[in-house]
This record gives sequence, structure tokens and C-alpha cells, in this order.
Amino acid sequence: MDKVCLHRIIRLLKQLQGINPFDGDSKPSGVRLFSPGEGRPTLPFPHPWNYSQPIRILETFFWNADREQGPGRHNRYLDVPGFTPVLVTRDPGIIRAILSATGDQPGQFDRDTLPSTGIARATGKDTLLFANGPFWRIQRKLAAPSFGKSALFQPEKFHEFEETFRQTIRKRLDSLQLHFEKSGEQTIRIKLEPEIKVVMLEMLANNFFGAQISYEEIRDRFTPALERVIDHIVSDTVINKMGIPITRMPSITPRIAQLKIDFVSFEKLTDLVLAPRKEGRALWKQFKSDAPDDKLRSNIRVFLAGALEATTSFATWAPSHLSRNQEIQERVYQEVKDIDTYTPDNLDQAKHLNWVMEETLRLTPSLYFLPRRATADTWIETVDKRKMFIPKGTHILLDVWHANRCEDYWGVKATGFPALDFAPDRWDALTARGQVAKEFFHFGFGHGPRVCPGKFLGQLEVGLVVGAVIKKFRFRAVNSNNPVKAGVSTKPMDGTLVDLELR
Ligand code: HEM
Repeated sequence: MDKVCLHRIIRLLKQLQGINPFDGDSKPSGVRLFSPGEGRPTLPFPHPWNYSQPIRILETFFWNADREQGPGRHNRYLDVPGFTPVLVTRDPGIIRAILSATGDQPGQFDRDTLPSTGIARATGKDTLLFANGPFWRIQRKLAAPSFGKSALFQPEKFHEFEETFRQTIRKRLDSLQLHFEKSGEQTIRIKLEPEIKVVMLEMLANNFFGAQISYEEIRDRFTPALERVIDHIVSDTVINKMGIPITRMPSITPRIAQLKIDFVSFEKLTDLVLAPRKEGRALWKQFKSDAPDDKLRSNIRVFLAGALEATTSFATWAPSHLSRNQEIQERVYQEVKDIDTYTPDNLDQAKHLNWVMEETLRLTPSLYFLPRRATADTWIETVDKRKMFIPKGTHILLDVWHANRCEDYWGVKATGFPALDFAPDRWDALTARGQVAKEFFHFGFGHGPRVCPGKFLGQLEVGLVVGAVIKKFRFRAVNSNNPVKAGVSTKPMDGTLVDLELR
């Protein structure tokens, strides 16, 4: 019997005896696969009946965890005999340690590809998002610098992007204003999410990548097509166990037929944003690589679908929270009303807007969990010297959603405000205490070597949209509660339904 086989048998025997495969002073506590009578929200793994409620699956791991006092309060695991263990953590110290130890060095953590098999089938596997190890490093070096702060925030470059972004937003808001003036209505009831999504795709495709696609085509063809492709990605990851791409399936249902058309549109959009590369327009001016277009296609698909999802999520949550907080909305208005250009200085000085953005990503992070995989038996250590042993192969879900909502870490004692409240002022207090950069991480853009390369582009786009909407309109939520819907990213369940009024 070879070593691997022996190891597997020993592992199985330990699993059957219920021995905890983790170790250290931050050892997680176990959750049971089935737990009748405990009232858990759902089973602790995705299946065809619960995959559309991923946040409930994560919640299941922490069901009754608040009764525990040890490290198991925030670190939990599931270990089913015959399967690799799953670790779910909402402990920011452990999350940070694992994110910092992710990369291409031997023994470092990988991004777990299991939750993104559907994304890879739709975009191709040769992407910055899906790749691990040396191949990821090559992709990162190739793609990330074009999005970085030094590329975007040089005064000349910044000005160019900021101006075209701003014009795009102005045009869309002007047509909304016209609607008010023509109809003579004082307020209109509107879902902001569909409007924001179109602007986000327009900014990404036309302003950032330099394509020249008409607004109508972006609104009527490309945005709905991408939306359906993204919805499909979520179900495809859980349901399509055979791994057959939708484009190879016969069109036996109207849904499959529609999706095939949508994938053709996705390809067309990819062509359109790659075309300006030859002329060196927009982003392509600073893209230094001689890789042929074909080698870039998968990454472009990831940027289009991923960035659209993430920026729309961020830019719909911010007004969603503000629509329930008139006083904060007014404060941001006073701050931006005289700002015409968003220079890096102006953006830095718009402190209320910045706190609103931080608080939005804390309370309602766009990416609600970050998946990792242990490539070897690994000991991790937190900044405050706590240790955890993680066995090779473990699937890890870094549960940012619940970490950021946990009273122990973000509550009254730690920050002066309840963790579940939308309170931009908590950042004021934390900044005054000098604690922000060192101690309070919300992981809204990730952390460590695989931190989001689109962070500065995303912040700029979202800041511009939120600032421009507040400058022109006052808005109030229609619903008092603000529940979440989650797929690839999170969004407000009501599509940011507001009563909008011209200022
Ligand atoms: C403003 C909204 C955005 C948010 C909230 C966001 C969030 C994130 C987060 C949390 C990660 C880390 C994932 C992980 O550690 O597993 C990430 C990675 C990534 N993001 Fe973003 N993102 C945003 C915008 C963008 C944009 C505009 C682009 C590109 C145009 C982009 C491209 C990527 C890519 C390619 C990765 C993978 C990087 C790697 O693994 O090395 N993101 N993003």
C-alpha cells in the first residue's frame, strides 16, 4: 500500500471517529451535516434547493455559535467522512492571515476554484481570477498594473478617465431630469439598480476600454445578455455536474436558446472592447504587452462580467443605505455640491462620501465570501500571535459578510456603533483613534497578494456615480427593510427602489 493510500485510510478512520483535523489555539469547532430540531436555516452545503441563498448556507455554520466562548465561536468546520474538510471563518484575524498567505510560493494558499467552476466555463480558465500558482503570477503581472493607482491616478490619465466617466453619468442623469420636467411630476418611483448597471457597463466598455458602443445597444442588448450570463454562472456551478458548457447543449428549452444568443452577445462585446487596442485608445494606451488578442480574451470576459457585477453591487448598495439615512445624504450633498471635477485631492477631501463608501463595503460587501484552498498542511499565525493548523486540501470560506456584521468585531464596544447599523461616523471615530489602517479590515477589496486589481477604478466609478446622483436628486427608500440577494455578488433585494425628487 502506498503512502497516499495509507494516509487516506488514516484520515477516514479519524473522520469516522469525529476527530477534529484542525489544531492550535484558534482551533475551529465542528458543525453537523444534519441537525434536525436545531432550527438551522438550511444544510451547510450548496445543493439545488438552497444554492440561491448562499448567505443562509454561511449562516448555518454559525448557528448558535454565539453560545460558545472559545475560538469555535468564529471558526467552524464541517468534516464529512470521505470528503475533504470545509473551514468557515468569520474571524478577521484568521481571514487576514489566510489572505496574506495566499500566493504562488510552495505551501501558500490557492484561491479555491470550486465555487467558480461556472465562471470559468463562461469566461475560459486562463484568467487572473481562476488561475493559481505560477500561471496566476504571470497573469497578475500582465493585467494588474493597467488598473493600479499609479496607472489611473497620474494627473493626466486621471483627468482623461474622470472626464469621460463624468460625461457619461451626466448624460444619463440629464435624461432623467428631462423626464421630470416633461412629466411635471415631483417625484418618481424608480429602481436604481437597472439604471446604474447600464451606466457601469457604459463606463467600463466605452470610457475605460475605449469601445464606441451606442447607449441603446448597451442598454437593450449587452446589459441584459451579461445579466443572464451571470445568473447562469451561479446555477451552472452547482447544477452542471457534467461540466458541459451551455454553448454545446442543444437548444431544447427557450432558456437554453436565449442563453446561447447571450453568449454570442458576450463574445461580440469582447470583440468590441478589444478592437480599440490597435489604435491605443483609452486603457490600451498604457497596456504594455505583445500578447496576441486571443490570449487576452478570457481575462477581458472576466473584467467585463466581474467588474460589472462588483461595481453595480457597490454602486447600488451605497444609495440604498443613503435612501434610509436622510441626514447623511444631506451631509454628502453639502460636501459634493460645489465639486465639479473629482481630482484625487477632491476625492480625498470628500470625507463623508469616503466614509459612506467604506461603511457600504463593510456592512454589505459586494463579494461576501472569499474562497481559499490549503495546498499543504499549514500552520497560520495571526498578527496577535494566535495559531491554527489547517490540513492539506481543506476548502476554506472566508466569510467576510458575517465577519463584518459581527458585534464582537464591529459592535458598540469596538467601534462605538452597533455592527448591524449603517453608520459612516464609525470611520470618523476610528480614524481619530488612528486605528483604521492597522486594525479594522473589512476586506471589501480583499487583502494581500490577490487583492482586487480594479480597486482604484471601482472606487473612482462608484464615487462619481454616487456623488453625481446626490448632487441632482434627493431620494427616499420605499421599503424600510434592506434585505440582501446574493449570487456572484450581493445586491439590495428591492433593486434600490426609491422615490426620487429633483433638488
Ligand atoms: C468596485 C467594485 C469592486 C469590488 C468591491 C471588488 C472586489 C474584489 C475582491 C474582494 C477581490 C478579491 C477576491 C479574492 O480574494 O478571492 C477582487 C479580485 C479581483 N477583482 Fe475586483 N472588485 C471590484 C472592481 C473590480 C474591477 C473594476 C475589476 C477589473 C476591471 C476587478 C477585477 C478583479 C480581478 C481580476 C480579481 C482577481 C485578482 C487576483 O486573483 O489576483 N474588480 N475584487
